[in-house]
Order: sequence, then structure tokens, then C-alpha cells
Amino acid sequence: MTYWSLSRDMTFLNHGSFGARPKDIVQAQLDLKRRLDDDPADILWVRGESLLEEATAQLAGFLQVSPDDLVSVVNATQAVNAVARALDLQPGQNIIATNHGYNAVNQTLRYVAERVGATLRLIDLEQSLSDEAVLIEAFESAMDDQTALVMLDHVSSPTALLFPVHEIVRRCRERGIRIMVDGAHAPGMLDLDITSIGADFYTGNLHKWVSAPLGAAFLHVRPEHHAAVHPASISHYLGEGFQKEFSWTGTCDPSSYLTAPAAIAWFAERFGWSSVREHNCQLVAWATGRLCDAWSVDPLDVPEASRLTSMRTIELPPRLRNHFDVVEDWRHWLRDEHAFDVAVHDWGGRWWIRLSAHVYNRPEEYERLIKVGLKGY
Ligand SMILES: Cc1ncc(COP(=O)(O)O)c(C=O)c1O
Repeated sequence: MTYWSLSRDMTFLNHGSFGARPKDIVQAQLDLKRRLDDDPADILWVRGESLLEEATAQLAGFLQVSPDDLVSVVNATQAVNAVARALDLQPGQNIIATNHGYNAVNQTLRYVAERVGATLRLIDLEQSLSDEAVLIEAFESAMDDQTALVMLDHVSSPTALLFPVHEIVRRCRERGIRIMVDGAHAPGMLDLDITSIGADFYTGNLHKWVSAPLGAAFLHVRPEHHAAVHPASISHYLGEGFQKEFSWTGTCDPSSYLTAPAAIAWFAERFGWSSVREHNCQLVAWATGRLCDAWSVDPLDVPEASRLTSMRTIELPPRLRNHFDVVEDWRHWLRDEHAFDVAVHDWGGRWWIRLSAHVYNRPEEYERLIKVGLKGY
């Protein structure tokens, strides 16, 4: 914990929302910001392109992709907006997504669809979630010859479900349907090989499980779509090529993305990425078991492969509804009274807590949550 910039006054079991950063990474970004303010033109103009290229090349190695297909964006939402606009949607077409999708993503898709008389088809996946074949079939049967895009979570936000991305991507590509994978949680959490997944578009956040500074993310686009995809914010380099266009989307502070390679190296050198992942999976599995036993609740029934993630979604006891109007009120109560930060959701009409585990978390933190979380309720 001493290595991390998190406040010691809070117990932080919510890495999944906004990540958290080691002090070394906070300092690395501050150093770069200082250089930016000392000589803005040096970082933004003279060496801007080469710094971006260097960071992208390092990131490409981590994600197992060609650097030529990778661009920097501020967050996954921007990447989704860029791709949604590239679809050239026609009236009567549809986009397929699910009720596990992140709200901002589904809102973007709904917006672009409804503007042109297309529709967002949200698949409600609430039964048999642990059965990958059921998940795959749900996508398969929702697609038709009017489907312009399938949006698939790699690891979903409210439900921490690891979708069978390889197979769903394969089915889409077999039918000639474009697919975007929303991997906001995947970099750092999973041993990611984006090339082997083969999606048309893949976005991931680096400020979550890579612990890069906030506002660091990427978009990977297969070469055949480069010409169609433009940044959500059009700027000087329109028409000068995929990477060139994304290299400048208006004046901004590029230090988050440029510091991401340092965050990747920090984990690699200190622990090794496979040890980080193993630790996080084991800790969240243990914490889930303890919490479920103690509160007599069940985790969401997710596919066996979801054990590779560092988050778990667990149903909250229905009796909490007797005391709080909305589940966020319980979260506020936990913050105000007991200094915990945890993610909670109202999903499918039921209330859930999503536990995260990272290298700074300790079993006693989850034990304390178990002890105080339902006190008096
Ligand atoms: C699955 C998923 N997709 C997209 C996003 C959007 O990320 P951002 O707010 O960084 O754009 C999130 C954020 O938590 C997410 O969990």
C-alpha cells in the first residue's frame, strides 16, 4: 500500500472503476507535465510524434498487435464513438449489444442508430450465464443480414463476466458482420493477445488494470477499416491517414498515454504480470467465497473462464432495500460511515456489489467489509 497513491483513510475495493496508480507512476506523469509546461512546444510539437510512436510501439508489444493498427484515445468511450461514426449506418440496419454493456457505450450506440432510423438491439442475457454455448447462441440468433455491428464486452462492467470473445468474433467474421470488442477492463487484467481475437475493432482502457494515469486508452483497428475510422474529434490531419488523424485531436495533455509504458514496466519489474494476475484472481475468489458465506448470498453465475478476472459480482441481500431507496445510497453509507469504496449496481432489477482485487488489497480489508457492511441491516 505504501507504494500506492491511494489515501490511507479509505479501504479501496473498487479498482475496476477508475483504477489506482502507484506513486512512481504519479511521479513519472508529474515529471512529464513539468516538462510540458517548461517547454510546451517541445513535447507537443517538436517531439510529439516520435514520443507517441515510441509509446504506441511499447504498448503494441504488451497487447500483441502491430503498432500500425493502434492509436491513442483518452478513454474507451471516445473509441466507441469513433467506431460508431465509422459504420455509415443505414435506415433499417441494427447494432447488437447486451444488457451487460457499459451504459455510456450502449447510449452511444443508441444515439448513432436512432439518428438514422437504425435500431440498437439489446440482448437481455440473464439466464444460464455460466453456459458459454448459451451466450454464443444468443449473439448468433440476434444477428441478421441487417446487422451493421456487434458490440461485445470482453469483461463486462456490472457483471464481471468474461465473454467467449474468440468464438463470438469468429462467428461474426464468418458472416461478414463487423464486431467491436469493448475491452475496457482487459489490459492488465487478462493476458491479452488482441491479434488472436481478431475483432474488427478493439478498445481498452489503460487507466484501469494497467494503472496508467487517468485518460489513457487505445483503439485497435484492423487495416481494412483504417480509411473509414476517424477520431471522435476531427482536427488538422483529416484525410492524412488513420494514425496521423488520431495523433492530434486538438490541444491536450498527452502525458497519461505517454506514461502508460512506465506503468506496464512497473508491474513487470516489480512482480511480473503473470504473478499480478494470479494474485488478483486468487484474492477475489477467496474474498467472494468469504463474503457469500458470511452474508448468505450468491455470486453471479458466470462462465468458469471468468475466474481469470480480478472482479466478481455478488448479489446483495434483498433486505437492504428496506433501508435504502437506491443501491448507491448504501454505497454512500459505506463511504461516509466506514470509509470503503466499492462498486454497486442495480442490474436486472437486483442489487449487486462488484468486488475488485489488486496487489495492494489484503484479506483483512474484505473481512472488515463483511463485518460492517450489513451492520444494523
Ligand atoms: C466495460 C466498460 N466499457 C467502457 C467503459 C468506459 O470507460 P471510460 O469512461 O474510460 O470511457 C467502462 C468504464 O468503466 C467499462 O467498464
